Order: sequence, then C-alpha cells, then structure tokens
Amino acid sequence: MAADDGVELSRSMLDFARTTEDTTGYSSCDIRDLIKQSIDSTMPKWRNMAKAKGINYHLKSSAVCEVPAILCNPTKLRLVFVNIINNALDAMPEGGTIGFCTWFSGDTVFVTISDTGEGMTEEVMKYVFDPFITTKDFLGSGLGMSTAYGIITGHGGKMEVESEIGKGSIFSIQLPVSTEVDCAERSLGREQK
Ligand SMILES: Nc1ncnc2c1ncn2[C@@H]1O[C@H](COP(=O)(O)OP(=O)(O)OP(=O)(O)O)[C@@H](O)[C@H]1O
Ligand SMILES: [Mg+2]
Repeated sequence: MAADDGVELSRSMLDFARTTEDTTGYSSCDIRDLIKQSIDSTMPKWRNMAKAKGINYHLKSSAVCEVPAILCNPTKLRLVFVNIINNALDAMPEGGTIGFCTWFSGDTVFVTISDTGEGMTEEVMKYVFDPFITTKDFLGSGLGMSTAYGIITGHGGKMEVESEIGKGSIFSIQLPVSTEVDCAERSLGREQK
C-alpha cells in the first residue's frame, strides 16, 4: 500500500495542473475506511515521534459518522489524509490531538481534520495550497498540500484551511457523492473531447 501510495504521489504531482477529472482507478469507497487506513499507515510515525520526544499524541475520531460512499481514487485520497496527518504531527512538537470528523448534507460528503498544533500565519495560510511553500527548510518539499489540493479538486471537491497561531489548524474537505453513471459519463465526455 505504501509503495502504491508513493507511485501515486508522483502521478499526482503531474496531475496538479490538470483541470479535467481523471477517473482512472476510481471505485466506490467508504471514506471512513480511507481515513482509518491513513491513520494506520502513519501510526509508526506517531509512535516513534512520541517515544523519541517523550510526548503524547491523541486521536479523536468519535465524530467520524456514517456517510454515503463516494466514487474516488482511494490511493489518492489516502495520500491527501496522510499528508494532512504528517503536517499535523510536525505542527505538534509538544504533542496534542488530531481530530477527524465526517458528515454529509445533500450530495456532499464533508471531512475535517483538525490539530492542536502551532497553527500558521496568515501569509502561510494564504499560500498553503501553492506548490513549494514550506516553513520546514530542507525537511519539507512544500508539495504535500498542493498535491492534496490538486487531488481534491480533481475529484470535483473543495479543500479549505483555517488556522490560528498557537491554537491549531483545521483542514476541511468537501467531496461530491457521485454515482457510477456520473463517473462513466464524465469519462466518456473526456474521451470525446
Ligand atoms: N497542520 C499544520 N499546522 C501548521 N502549519 C501547517 C500545517 N499544515 C501545513 N502547514 C504549513 O504549510 C506548509 C506547506 O505544507 P506542505 O505539506 O505543502 O509542505 P511541507 O510539509 O513543508 O513539505 P512536504 O512536501 O514534505 O509535505 C508547511 O511547511 C507548514 O508551514
Ligand atoms: Mg507536508
């Protein structure tokens, strides 16, 4: 799964400037499974960082509620969650809480991922979804959030951030609940162009 996700990262960087939807690898997914798999794959990092620094990270997932299945590329969506989780861990050098919340309204599934970390300045927040924006010097490439943004918009969704210095950050994602028919029509539309 990690190797597949790495391959998908390279593809997603190439996808970044794509404006039409690429439905390759789409399947019907329960977003709660993707969140759980992303948490599981990053858990060694949580444990190692906590152990090395003598700190605690808490996971709050009680607000992860049942939502309709979405048609998506699961590898790409896992990459979005993994990038957000890794940033949250980096932003909490003293430990803290990462919270996940899911709900839906009409034809839209909503996901928020919050942390109780350092937060970001207005300037960083303004450009966080642009490529090569990093405050991590040589430790960060500044591609995590631009890749995530490209993936979410590529799925016909929206991604936003709110943050307050010293309090934490919250990333909000909206994804359309779409049917197999919608997806097939979108693919067909692209082939005909
Ligand atoms: N949860 C967060 N809390 C505080 N700052 C954040 C958070 N998420 C992102 N940022 C800020 O946004 C910048 C860009 O994030 P992004 O994930 O794109 O790049 P990066 O983490 O620096 O490098 P990488 O490409 O390795 O992910 C980060 O360097 C950091 O300053
Ligand atoms: Mg990052």
